[in-house]
Amino acid sequence: MKTLELGFDEDHNSQNCSRLWGVIITIDGVAASGKSSVSSGVARALKLPYISSGLLYRAVTLLALDAGLSPHDAPAILAHVQAHPVRLEPLAEGNRVWQAERELTPLLHSTRIDKGVSLIAAQPAIRAWVDEQLRRLTPPFVAEGRDMGTNVFPGADAKFYLTASPRVRAERRAQERPEDIPATEAALMRRDELDRVQSAPASDARIIDTGRLDLQGVIDTVLAALPPTPKPT
Ligand code: DC
Repeated sequence: MKTLELGFDEDHNSQNCSRLWGVIITIDGVAASGKSSVSSGVARALKLPYISSGLLYRAVTLLALDAGLSPHDAPAILAHVQAHPVRLEPLAEGNRVWQAERELTPLLHSTRIDKGVSLIAAQPAIRAWVDEQLRRLTPPFVAEGRDMGTNVFPGADAKFYLTASPRVRAERRAQERPEDIPATEAALMRRDELDRVQSAPASDARIIDTGRLDLQGVIDTVLAALPPTPKPT
């Protein structure tokens, strides 16, 4: 599988996706709504890559924090990321991020990154840079994030928006973080507020409450709602 080297234009298509040539499916939603697991399941069912835009924002945040840069100093952060490029490996079973031979993925879902990422993702210059990397990708793919259906791929073929109550999301997230459920719920609600501007659902997105369904139920709901695929010519 080829990887997307941030700042460079690389084709990353899987060989198995000619049936869905050119198709873009967006799966947006609030934090801990199940976006990554659902996107991965949908991508595997369709034999497509999926792209986690949140992981890109997390990787930029890790580099900025480790370099001691101010989260408000977008030019310094972008210069640093370009000088130390990271690669996104868009595997359907779960995206991975690399810096040369060092894998960053296990470092990207910590409380430290959770706390810093919203501030960095709110910087217009950082968003413009991430958007540019994403728009360079050659479809087909599943794109996951907050503003995939609104801002980055407004012409996507199918759009979904996942939501769930803060308590349900906290119960899920607390299994992956050291904090207890009330602390996790409070942190999620803070992040909802910080991410609110870029997290509005697209007007043409299908909204799915993932609190009512198990993972396979959400994946099946997305797959059932996809428009019929065009016949190969
Ligand atoms: O989906 P996530 O929780 O891994 O995203 C991490 C952060 O990145 C989240 O606080 C919001 C931000 N983000 C964003 O602003 N736009 C996106 N398209 C994806 C993520």
